[in-house]
Amino acid sequence: MSSPQTSSDPESESDTGSSPQQRRLEKKYERVVEREEQAAVEDQSGSNEQTVHLKVFRYDPEVEEKQEPRYDDFHVPLEKGMTVLDALIYARDHFDSSLTFRHSCRMAVCGSDGFFINGSQRLGCQTQISDLDSPVQVEPLPHEPVIKDLVVDMDHFFERMESIEPYFQPDELPDGELEEQRQSPENREKIKIASRCIQCGCCTSSCNPSQTDDQYIGPAAIVKGFRFYFDEREGEQAQDHRLDLLSEEHGVWQCHTQFSCTEVCPKDIPITEEIQEMKREAVKRDIKFW
Ligand code: FES
Repeated sequence: MSSPQTSSDPESESDTGSSPQQRRLEKKYERVVEREEQAAVEDQSGSNEQTVHLKVFRYDPEVEEKQEPRYDDFHVPLEKGMTVLDALIYARDHFDSSLTFRHSCRMAVCGSDGFFINGSQRLGCQTQISDLDSPVQVEPLPHEPVIKDLVVDMDHFFERMESIEPYFQPDELPDGELEEQRQSPENREKIKIASRCIQCGCCTSSCNPSQTDDQYIGPAAIVKGFRFYFDEREGEQAQDHRLDLLSEEHGVWQCHTQFSCTEVCPKDIPITEEIQEMKREAVKRDIKFW
């Protein structure tokens, strides 16, 4: 990689008047060159240290030199049990602090690190490097606007979620102020798997109808609707209203039963089946016999 046209002597930077950004870029290029030289030496010497080769999508609309999307290569020391998120964190902390991605819980709970890894939507923290072919290509979730590197704009995704009013709407509350609203074990079983959804967006990103119909509420919102519709503690009026929301023009009928959402769901929710069940509920309610 060629270095930028800047002074190579950090001591003389203040004399040459280079900006902090230029100085950061210089340091970054030095690290890249160092890394490539080290990788070349290791290749030649047949070093025993195992590394994982990451190819990471890069894009930053706010920095002129980074407005053109590209892929950066990182060679990260491989450790037993390493996940894609571990490798990204290593690359960020040791090679390029500007590498940007979301993460939080690191245990498949928060849903913030959905990426497109080797051609499939997956959670970075749940994907073992040892299960992947090399190089490991990491890209942002497809079909969502990219903000920077691996960070996508999830606003539209959450607008779709909100459209089905994802909260309890009981007709009546229990008499006592502190009394619980109880749920039977059988009913808990019915909605248990749908309750696992962590709103990572992997399903919606993989769903073709979600890309062709911008108003389609999408698989994640339907799963959330399923979770509340079948909860026996929800009021009858609310249940009816929710079925209206789910079965309107851009609702469950847009699903083409391609099963792509089910295939990529990191929580193994049978999303397509739950969408079909909501379709059956809508038909059962609206069917007329003469
Ligand atoms: Fe929370 Fe992966 S970091 S789901």
